[in-house]
Amino acid sequence: MAARSLLLLAAAASAAVSSASALDPVQRPLGSQHSTESILATKRPLVDSQKLQDSISIDALVKRAEKLFDIAKLSEHEYNHPTRVIGSAGHVGTLKYIEQQIAELGDYYHFWNQSFPAISGRVNEHRLVIGNDVSKSGVPMQLTPPTKDKEPVHGDLVLVDNEGCDESDYPKELKGNIAFILRGTCAYGTKSELAGKAGAKAAIVYNYDHDVIHGTLGSPTPNQIATFSLSGDEAAPIIKDIKAGKTVDAIAYIDADVITTITTNLLAQTVEGDPDNCVMLGGHSDSVTAGPGINDDGSGSLSILEVATQLTKFSVNNCVRFAWWAGEEEGLLGSDYYVSVLPEDENKKIRLFMDYDMMGSPNFAYQIYNATNAANPVGSEELRDLYIDWYEVQGLNYTFIPFDGRSDYDGFIRNGIPGGGIATGAEGIKTEAEVTQFGGKAGDWYDPCYHQLCDDVGNVNATAWEVNTKLIAHSVATYALSFDGFPKRTDSSSLGATVESAYEKEVKYHGTFAFI
Ligand SMILES: *[C@@H]1O[C@H](CO)[C@@H](O)[C@H](O)[C@H]1NC(C)=O
Ligand SMILES: *[C@@H]1O[C@H](CO)[C@@H](O)[C@H](O)[C@H]1NC(C)=O
Ligand SMILES: *[C@@H]1O[C@H](CO)[C@@H](O)[C@H](O)[C@H]1NC(C)=O
Ligand SMILES: *[C@@H]1O[C@H](CO)[C@@H](O)[C@H](O)[C@H]1NC(C)=O
Repeated sequence: MAARSLLLLAAAASAAVSSASALDPVQRPLGSQHSTESILATKRPLVDSQKLQDSISIDALVKRAEKLFDIAKLSEHEYNHPTRVIGSAGHVGTLKYIEQQIAELGDYYHFWNQSFPAISGRVNEHRLVIGNDVSKSGVPMQLTPPTKDKEPVHGDLVLVDNEGCDESDYPKELKGNIAFILRGTCAYGTKSELAGKAGAKAAIVYNYDHDVIHGTLGSPTPNQIATFSLSGDEAAPIIKDIKAGKTVDAIAYIDADVITTITTNLLAQTVEGDPDNCVMLGGHSDSVTAGPGINDDGSGSLSILEVATQLTKFSVNNCVRFAWWAGEEEGLLGSDYYVSVLPEDENKKIRLFMDYDMMGSPNFAYQIYNATNAANPVGSEELRDLYIDWYEVQGLNYTFIPFDGRSDYDGFIRNGIPGGGIATGAEGIKTEAEVTQFGGKAGDWYDPCYHQLCDDVGNVNATAWEVNTKLIAHSVATYALSFDGFPKRTDSSSLGATVESAYEKEVKYHGTFAFI
């Protein structure tokens, strides 16, 4: 079964790649080639934040969520449950739905798409036995290759020097054994690659903190080997034994596949508005495999679809570009791809990027990414302050959350484009103090159905979703009207090296998983 579907995917992948590569990879909007006559003929009032906010209704959003859940059910024959993971019928259906909704808006938008190969991993089975005990915390890293022939391998645990970021850290006796490596300094992918090069059969990266790490190897490289992560607590006594001269052996087993799926970003840009000064915003169209992803990120992608729909009642001064990213759950693949193929002159036209991922968590907090100008491209902080001001005017509380690479803003920040956004919480735990600020339940996750089957229509708090969609409308209306007072894009050559490295130094995540 798995082998057959792999072959089909590979065939589909090469077909789609060759047809996509015939096109301009950026597929820039056509600009002046498109007629704006009919748009100008319909005299629309200039966009007004309050009016755009007033056009947002929770009923319209919930109707869309119900539709999206039905679409997720298209995957049931293949997955036995609703999902909108890339490559599934539910995800293809999601793309079609957005496409058809934008098409109904006539010629207000240029609409285009961008297909790209998305690499993802699937772990079918795994087991880690250290000494005589089944490991309690050992989990395979995302995108890990399988152990040899998808069979268990056996060897002694060999401590790697330092943090295993240099070839010379890997001792000779590692050959044919299992590398035991401390987390830190360099990416997990690098450690796995170096361990493989040194002849190890498998690698275990243990945390410097007590808990287990959910890590990813990032992009596959030729010598990477089956790699587990382990909690610091489980590693501590093992290290003590090895250092005392005891031999500790292990059996590692991972049956996994790394597969390539062709998937698609969707983009819509107002025909009207200065095309050299765009406000860009996005949500992700895909979900994880485990469930239908109605909060994550049905909520954000439907919020921006609804704002895109309501915006057509107005004219705009600046261009507004909406994006529905694919492959976010596999490691921000769609947004990374988009930014990576953006020519320098197109990059400069994006004044800022606003990320809208998880807008209605059931046990929500109103969270604002703490994106400061000190650590990020200039303008990020002005956007952060726009969110603060709006919540304050509404008399609502908010909290700051780390701007740490967990969503699609990451590629933009790394490429010099100011960014930020809001969220309502994932697997974090709500505090007592936050209950006084937002209601809900202390000690529970903000989204108890995060990345699970129960992320369905009932898993969205209507109040939070409506409030945040109005805030999205406000952010769009504000910048569609004017960039007065908003910092100009700095030349990326003069973009302080300090700014780039400040973000890069801090950030340990790329999407859901830590990469370092
Ligand atoms: C992408 O756009 C092309 C050209 O308009 C269209 O034929 C194709 O169906 C679109 N693909 C998706 C997945 O939307
Ligand atoms: C926001 O980030 C800045 C540094 O970029 C930091 O000094 C400040 O403490 C952060 N604020 C909160 C509330 O996390
Ligand atoms: C904001 O938080 C304070 C506690 O810090 C609380 O007393 C107040 O009721 C909250 N406001 C709203 C609108 O929930
Ligand atoms: C949304 O959250 C608020 C505050 O916790 C709560 O009062 C309300 O009942 C929730 N609504 C839904 C539909 O879950």
